[in-house]
Amino acid sequence: MAHTHKLFNGKKIGILTGGGDTPALNSSIESIRNRASLLGYTVYGIRKGWKGLLGDGDLIDLTNQPYDGYYGGTSILSSRTNPFPTKKNPEDRVPQILKNIERYAIDVLISIGGDDTNGAAKRLYETQGIKVIGFPKTIDNDLRTKTMHNYNGKLIESVLCPGFPSGAKAIMEMAMHLRTTAESHSRIIVLEVMGRDAGWLTGSAIMGGAELALVPEFVITKERKDFFLETVKETYMRSKKKALIIAVSEGVRWYDEKNDKVDVVYASSEVDEFGHPRFGGISGVIASEITNKLGIEARAQISGYYPRSGKCRSYDRRLTGALADKVVDLLLREEYGQMPVMKNIVPFVELEEFNTSSIDMGAIGNKPLPEDYYDIQAFNFTDAYVDFLQNFLGQICINEFKYNFPIVIPEK
Ligand code: F6P
Repeated sequence: MAHTHKLFNGKKIGILTGGGDTPALNSSIESIRNRASLLGYTVYGIRKGWKGLLGDGDLIDLTNQPYDGYYGGTSILSSRTNPFPTKKNPEDRVPQILKNIERYAIDVLISIGGDDTNGAAKRLYETQGIKVIGFPKTIDNDLRTKTMHNYNGKLIESVLCPGFPSGAKAIMEMAMHLRTTAESHSRIIVLEVMGRDAGWLTGSAIMGGAELALVPEFVITKERKDFFLETVKETYMRSKKKALIIAVSEGVRWYDEKNDKVDVVYASSEVDEFGHPRFGGISGVIASEITNKLGIEARAQISGYYPRSGKCRSYDRRLTGALADKVVDLLLREEYGQMPVMKNIVPFVELEEFNTSSIDMGAIGNKPLPEDYYDIQAFNFTDAYVDFLQNFLGQICINEFKYNFPIVIPEK
């Protein structure tokens, strides 16, 4: 007779995704669902983040359903709903959330998210005793995971969040592609990249040939702006084909002469339920200042939602699997209020080699770029950061058509 008893038969897990999507969300959901099912859990998807636990609830059954973990985004949808009262939404949603957790008999809640989503999950665990396990995600890669990077013997506290490797690959490719149009018009292209508070994603443009970069961590004051523009001119003049790609984070704080102050560029006056405004447009400001002050033609390109879109790349696919294995470990040990993380930054082939650990969700939070990764004087990322990125992006890849055609002289 087949042995059908499973440890958690009859128990239920609810998975939700909150915040901005990434190409690795479906991969995370599928990896967790597959493993939890093997343990005997019924796995529900809670739709639209915390919103799916409001009202009557909005849940779907993922158990034994076909699933495509390579397809980007999230099949269970996402939102930036905050369970706790905020200025924008003063209503306390926690009682309704608790009621629904009970009505749907959810034993363990898995929140896939960044600082906001997992912060709320941790609060529900601490204040209401809800059994939660966090799962990291963010395209910005600025969620503290305490992942160590060994750079030539120096240990750097780095970050590795599912979604980032796929997004970084897209930005690397975009920088590579923009080069041909920049070269054709002898232009500077300012490539704007998501990253409200941190420049991790912006740095991946360097792997595709961007030569300068600005990040939110280092403010562009009046003096720094002059120095930056000089550096731009020098780098452009030095370039063989008179072309240059500059990568800038959407959250860069830039000196504005008209108002005599340093500020970000806002895309809208709205803020979300976690109090975050929307940024966008800094690349246009920088491009027009380059054109006006340096007399070099410059254009802006906002990469926007592109790195958040499309399929899950192979590194992320494996990373989500390794982290989901750690979820199993936490479930078996009944350790809640924890989030699985990678202990060390490793190349693709070593991803599954017992390299995971977990951190208390109280210790998560935003993690800006470490100083070792960005050179303020050079307005560029360091070799240490390139070494970090090479684990999932391979070598720096610059599209180059090297030609040296002879110039034709008129015959008469
Ligand atoms: O999830 C973070 C992020 O990717 C930020 O870099 C960006 O500012 C924000 O999402 C934009 O999100 P949305 O427009 O989807 O609310």
